[in-house]
Amino acid sequence: MNILLIGSGGREHALAWKMTQSEACDQLFILPGNAGTAQCGTNVPLNLLDFPAIKEFSLANNIELCVVGPEAPLVEGIYDFFKNDPALSKINVIGPSKEGAQLEGSKAYAKKFMADLNIPTAAYKEFTPATLADGLSYIETQTPPIVLKADGLAAGKGVLIIEDIEEAKSALEEMLGGKFGAASETVVIEEFLSGIEFSVFVITDGKDYQVLPMAKDYKRIGEGDTGLNTGGMGAVSPVPFVDETLFKKVEDRVIKPTIAGLNSKGITYKGFVFIGLINVNNEPYVIEYNCRMGDPETEVVIPRLKNDLVEIFDAVDKGTLNDIKMEFDERAATAVMLVSGGYPEAYEKGKIISGIDSISDSIVFHAGTKSVDGNILSNGGRVIAITSFGTDFKSALAVSNKNAEVIDFEGKNYRKDIGMDL
Ligand code: AMP
Ligand code: GLY
Repeated sequence: MNILLIGSGGREHALAWKMTQSEACDQLFILPGNAGTAQCGTNVPLNLLDFPAIKEFSLANNIELCVVGPEAPLVEGIYDFFKNDPALSKINVIGPSKEGAQLEGSKAYAKKFMADLNIPTAAYKEFTPATLADGLSYIETQTPPIVLKADGLAAGKGVLIIEDIEEAKSALEEMLGGKFGAASETVVIEEFLSGIEFSVFVITDGKDYQVLPMAKDYKRIGEGDTGLNTGGMGAVSPVPFVDETLFKKVEDRVIKPTIAGLNSKGITYKGFVFIGLINVNNEPYVIEYNCRMGDPETEVVIPRLKNDLVEIFDAVDKGTLNDIKMEFDERAATAVMLVSGGYPEAYEKGKIISGIDSISDSIVFHAGTKSVDGNILSNGGRVIAITSFGTDFKSALAVSNKNAEVIDFEGKNYRKDIGMDL
C-alpha cells in the first residue's frame, strides 16, 4: 500500500524507518520530512496544516494509510477532515479525532476527563480572565511550588513551576492576559507532584489497546538534569524502576480507564496515546496525555518493537488489535540527541553535518536536517538522534556517545549522561 506519514522530526524518521521494513509498504511519502526520511521514501514539500493540499496529494497518490506524527494537525482535526470527506474516508488515519486530540490540546479537557474517570492526577482548578481574582486568592492558599499550565498548545513552553507565591500570582495575571495567546485564555493550576517521570505509550483502536515499550526522556539541556527545558535531549527504554507491581497499577488505574473512558464518552480514537506519568512513592499519577508518540522517545521505543508496524496500523483500522502479539527486543536502548549550539535559545541552522555514513553500530535518526546540493545541513535545534542497543544502559550509551563524537557539525552539543541516573 501507499503510505503518507506526516511530520518532519526524529520521531517521523523512526516511524518511516520502521514502516519501510514492512512488506505491506509499497511507497512511503513523508510530508514534509527531513534529510533522513528522504532515504526511506519521498519527501513531500507541503505544509502539514494545509489539509486541502494533503487531500489532493493523497488522492493523486492512492494513499491508503496516513500516519500523523505531531500533535498540531491532530488538534486541528485532520482525522475528521479525512473521515468526513467521502473521497478520503476509506483511508486509514492513525491518530485521534479532533475531540480525542483535546487530551493533549486542552489541559482543562484532559483534567476533566481524568476527574470524570477517577484517573489519578494532581488536584487542580482552572481559571479564566473572568475568574482571575479567584485564581489569585487560590494561589495564596497553596503551598509552593505552584504549577501553572496554559490550557492550549504552547510549543512545550506553557508549563511554569514557580517557588514564590507573589511571582506565581504575576505569572497567572500575565498568562490570562495573553502571554501564550489563545493557549493561555484558560490556565490550570495544579498540585505539585514530586517523583520520577516516565512515559507509557499505548496504541488503540478506541476499543482495544496494545502497550508499547516504556521510555524515559531527558528534557533539560544540561548534564545532571540542569538548565533550560528542551524538546528532549535523549531517551532510554525500558524504564527499570517500573516493576511489575507499578506497571499493573498503571494499567489498572490509568490505561484501562482511559480507553474505557474514550469508549463511554463516544470519543473516536485510533492512534497513539502517550501517557506522561510520575511515580510518587510507587503510586502512578498522570502528568499529561499526548495524542501522538513522543520525540525522542519514539527513537528508542520503535527500534525495540519487533512487530510489523504497518500490520499494527492495519489492525487499528480493522479493530483487530487484540489479535496481535506484541514482541519487543529485550535489550536496553539509548538515544542521544545532537543539538545546535545555543539551543533551546537562539541557534544557527545550515551547518554541514559530517560523519553520518561511517556509523554502523547505531541507528542514526535525523531530526532537524535538510539535504542541499549533496550535503546534509542542520535545520533545527534538535538535529540528529543516535540510538544504540546494549545489554544495559551503560553499554548502549557508550556506543551512542562514541558516535556522537564521529558525527560532527559546527556548534554541536549533546548530553553525555543519558540514562546514567537509572
Ligand atoms: P506537561 O506539559 O504537562 O507535561 O508539563 C511539563 C513538565 O512540567 C512535566 O514533564 C513535568 O516535569 C512538569 N510538571 C507538570 N505538571 C507537574 C506537576 N503537577 N507536578 C510536578 N511537575 C509537573
Ligand atoms: N519528549 C516529550 C514529547 O514528545 O512531548
